[in-house]
Amino acid sequence: MSTHIGAEPGQIAPVVLFPGDPLRAKWIAEQFLEDVECYSEVRGMYGYTGTWQGTPISVQGSGIGQPSLAIYVNELFRDYDVRSIIRVGSCGALNEKVAVRDIVIASGACTDSAMNRITFEGLDYAPVADFGLLRAAADAAPTVSDQPVHVGLIYSCDSFYASRPELMMRMVEYGVLAVEMEASALYTLAAKHGRRALAVCTVSDHVVTGEETSAQERQETFDAMVEIALKAAVS
Ligand code: HPA
Repeated sequence: MSTHIGAEPGQIAPVVLFPGDPLRAKWIAEQFLEDVECYSEVRGMYGYTGTWQGTPISVQGSGIGQPSLAIYVNELFRDYDVRSIIRVGSCGALNEKVAVRDIVIASGACTDSAMNRITFEGLDYAPVADFGLLRAAADAAPTVSDQPVHVGLIYSCDSFYASRPELMMRMVEYGVLAVEMEASALYTLAAKHGRRALAVCTVSDHVVTGEETSAQERQETFDAMVEIALKAAVS
């Protein structure tokens, strides 16, 4: 096993779906995969491997925020030779073009995190999605759901309760669609390891209007997002 994942080499599939919430990982495995095996319960950050339409797929919780996510991404790439990671999570809409329940596929992820700043010694690296996964997810989306799908920039913010919300709104002036807390580090680490990554998010709340989704709506859009991610995963 690696430091934070209790799997033997070979127990994790080459493609991993990656929700923040470990109980969502359990739910995805139970609802969507066949022949499921739980490979890790370390720190309650569950990981499962099964098959979807005959293809091996794993689902691993990442935790909230880029420092937690980066632990699992590093170990999945380095110790388990994972080739592709697709984050499935929620985001807050920032832009009036985006509504609650919409789906946002992140072509790139801006950030206020110091993780990249330290790596690049003050230079601004532009973390982007793998184009093949991005194209496959965008193609799959209309076959899965009638919900509007947006492809564009998101903002991976270190603070859920932002102390300077006006800085978040400056991102909107430059076309950023939504805020979440993980994608930027995922994209940067995939580039470092020469692997593929994508983030697909459902809009759970609107940061500007304050609108929120009901639990039922969240579940329905979550199902659509997982199906889009699975179709991209096997493309
Ligand atoms: N901020 C950060 N992450 C989020 C949000 C938000 O408003 N909504 C869903 N994930």
